[in-house]
Amino acid sequence: MPAQSTQSAPYTSATAPGALPLLGHAPAFVRRPHAFLAGLPAHGDLVRLKLGPLAVYVACHPDLVRRLLTEDRVYDKGGLVLDKAREVMGDGLATCPHAAHRRQRRMLQPAFHRDRLPGYAAMMAEEIAGTTAPWRDGDTIDVPAAMYRLTTAVTARCLFAAHERAGSLPVHESMDVITRGVGRRVMMPLPGVDRLPTPGNRRFRRARADLAEITRRLIADYRAAGSDHQDLLSVLLSARDEDGQGLSDAEIHDQVVTFLLAGMETTAAALSWAWVLLAAHPVIRERLHDELDAVLAGRPARYEDLPALPLTARIVAETLRLYPPVWLLSRTVATDTELGGHHVPAGATLLYSAYLLHHRADLFPCPERFDPDRWLTARPAPGTYTPFGLGARRCIGDAFGTTEAVLAVATIAARWTVTPTPGRPVRPTRSSSLSPRPFTATLTRRVR
Ligand code: HEM
Repeated sequence: MPAQSTQSAPYTSATAPGALPLLGHAPAFVRRPHAFLAGLPAHGDLVRLKLGPLAVYVACHPDLVRRLLTEDRVYDKGGLVLDKAREVMGDGLATCPHAAHRRQRRMLQPAFHRDRLPGYAAMMAEEIAGTTAPWRDGDTIDVPAAMYRLTTAVTARCLFAAHERAGSLPVHESMDVITRGVGRRVMMPLPGVDRLPTPGNRRFRRARADLAEITRRLIADYRAAGSDHQDLLSVLLSARDEDGQGLSDAEIHDQVVTFLLAGMETTAAALSWAWVLLAAHPVIRERLHDELDAVLAGRPARYEDLPALPLTARIVAETLRLYPPVWLLSRTVATDTELGGHHVPAGATLLYSAYLLHHRADLFPCPERFDPDRWLTARPAPGTYTPFGLGARRCIGDAFGTTEAVLAVATIAARWTVTPTPGRPVRPTRSSSLSPRPFTATLTRRVR
């Protein structure tokens, strides 16, 4: 069980050692970002870094992370990570500033109401079955690509259910280029590089324009049809604020791109890591198979099955602990403030990392061990286990994403054993989401 995190002040503050002239900590951070961050708590609870010309603070203690995430008026959206994401998501829910957030969140919350989940889950189950239907015994698949196809199909279907072939809308290709583009831009803190006319930057801008065109056409079709299709886009179109105002087409576009970007890559990353972890832990995989055989007897998982799949849910929770897809986030300080007894000036960038917290040995005993059963007793203090963030800006799609991941792991593992091709260990990409680099696996049909 993780230790309680609350400590009485003072919280320590320091500058991380090893800064180079001009570049500061940027080379160390870009080279091995996850290990670099995980090493920061050794220097203090609030650690200063220099990333090129940019001075940033990293909140390493759960108490400080809790304050950072719950005081969203003081610690507003902005800074290194958010500014890059804003280039694509505009002023959608995930990137809008505090001043616009309450209105948007109130308008969009009904789209993720608990009552809607069974309907989305039915669509998810169909898309999971459809995406995995062509798989054959002995096939070799590129696992991250396959999981990305699966979550694209699910997200597109739940957004645009009325579209005849939502799963095959050409959002996949644009989103792939956009997610990689955002990832690269976040990891490149030096200014100006993303405006150079490189092929990568040109591809990024073209993909952004293509996606804008697809959503513009879908919005026009939906407005013309005027009925509720029980999907996310229908809720966006019917959302009204307190004054009875709806969202403009531009606002709906930003929300659609936000849902796509926030929902596809994150869940795909979690699913890909789950197969790596299960293959490396055959005893846990056996127990998973036992659970699935008892509950599903070989059929795909449905929403009603979720309460009977506790081990599958713990496997997803533990995967999100070891590999939180949203591993690094930033905030910008709206007014001079103090954090943990230390002055932080207005305009400063603060970072927090779920990866850093989830790998602290004082919060999660043997943090590198894949141990789904720790969740039988673990009750982490707020700010300790944060795969979905915390406070007013907590993930609006947390139940959606978790349901999708549990249904996908259950449906696939019930029928297939996924065995990564032996060779080099699977490593994370250097990107804004904690996704694995491409790796292949062999599919073996299970005999119950
Ligand atoms: C495993 C899957 C997912 C993970 C790990 C994840 C993680 C997160 C995190 C950490 C945040 C907080 C960001 C911050 O504090 O700056 C967030 C926000 C958000 N997520 Fe997710 N997410 C997942 C799935 C989804 C899905 C499926 C959707 C939508 C379909 C979604 C939509 C959003 C939105 C709109 C926000 C912004 C919320 C706000 O600011 O009010 N996410 N997500």
